[in-house]
Amino acid sequence: MLLAASDSDRARQLLVSAPLARSVVARYVAGDLAAEAVEVAGRLISAGLLVTLDHLGEDTGDARQAAAVGDEYVALLKLLAAQELTGGARAEVSVKPTAVGLGLAEHGEQTAAENIARICAAAREAGTTVTVDMEDHTHVDATLRIVRTLRGDYPDLGCVIQSQLRRSADDCADLATPGSRVRLCKGAYNAPPDVAFATRAEVDRSYARCLRMLMRGSGYPMLATHDPRLIEIAGAQAHLTGRGPGDFEYQMLYGIRPAEQQRLADAGAQVRVYLPYGSDWYAYLVRRLAERPANLAFFARSLVTRS
Ligand code: FDA
Repeated sequence: MLLAASDSDRARQLLVSAPLARSVVARYVAGDLAAEAVEVAGRLISAGLLVTLDHLGEDTGDARQAAAVGDEYVALLKLLAAQELTGGARAEVSVKPTAVGLGLAEHGEQTAAENIARICAAAREAGTTVTVDMEDHTHVDATLRIVRTLRGDYPDLGCVIQSQLRRSADDCADLATPGSRVRLCKGAYNAPPDVAFATRAEVDRSYARCLRMLMRGSGYPMLATHDPRLIEIAGAQAHLTGRGPGDFEYQMLYGIRPAEQQRLADAGAQVRVYLPYGSDWYAYLVRRLAERPANLAFFARSLVTRS
């Protein structure tokens, strides 16, 4: 039903124009325009948080659109730099490979790599970094190949590991190398049981295992979770491995557990808020909810708690 709604113009029109829906969406999405996202980023940075901005959109259908997404990021980075938000990578950007062409039938990987390289060059000029989001499990190999290649020119290019995937401990072992920026999350996409752990307990155990590998390695771990138990484990591992507050960061989504984000930052930790913006929020939210029923509970919970 939700997937049908994501393609239905009537359902989209109803929701996009409903005042209540807009106010709910405003909790998770910074606005339609880059300028609005930059304003929210400035507010978060003033409160002592770090930010990674994501231009909403995925599964781009043609090379021209993929290039336009690349242009959007280049313009966004210029805006962030003009507002002096990029110094020390306080504001960086996150890019979905399929938004810049990975899913194209012809030359998808090459198109995505070229667009991400262009974004990396703009980020370097602005004095900040880029992280490549991880999408559906069918794109993992190509995404990691792109990251490995581009790290030749841009060693600070970040990537993402999803603990729900059975392969992730091996990927962490490969990626826990000097300077390597790795975001660890549980994973927001459905995957078959031969590829992914099926139960929440297994995904959490895998997260803790990957977390320990990254914290003991020589890279820069970015621990993306709202899970209080895993946040506690991260703190304990930092202590055990002698990592100071500048040697790793916590990451959480805009609008989810904002009080916890602020508490950690006030206690001296680095906390980066993932801040999506753009007019494509409708498809983004509805697809995420349809793909994985747990996402519905996740967003519903955040509406009733700010802790
Ligand atoms: P989960 O949803 O399992 O919740 C665990 C516990 O956290 C709950 O039991 C509760 O105690 C607490 N909790 C959660 N929400 C709460 C709330 N609103 N209020 C109070 N307590 C709450 N995915 C992906 O596939 N590719 C990617 O590139 C990324 N990128 C990414 C970046 C960042 C910064 C984040 C935070 C997340 C992602 N994700 C992602 C999404 C990620 O994979 C995952 O789907 C969500 O973060 C939800 O998983 P959690 O680890 O937060 O725990």
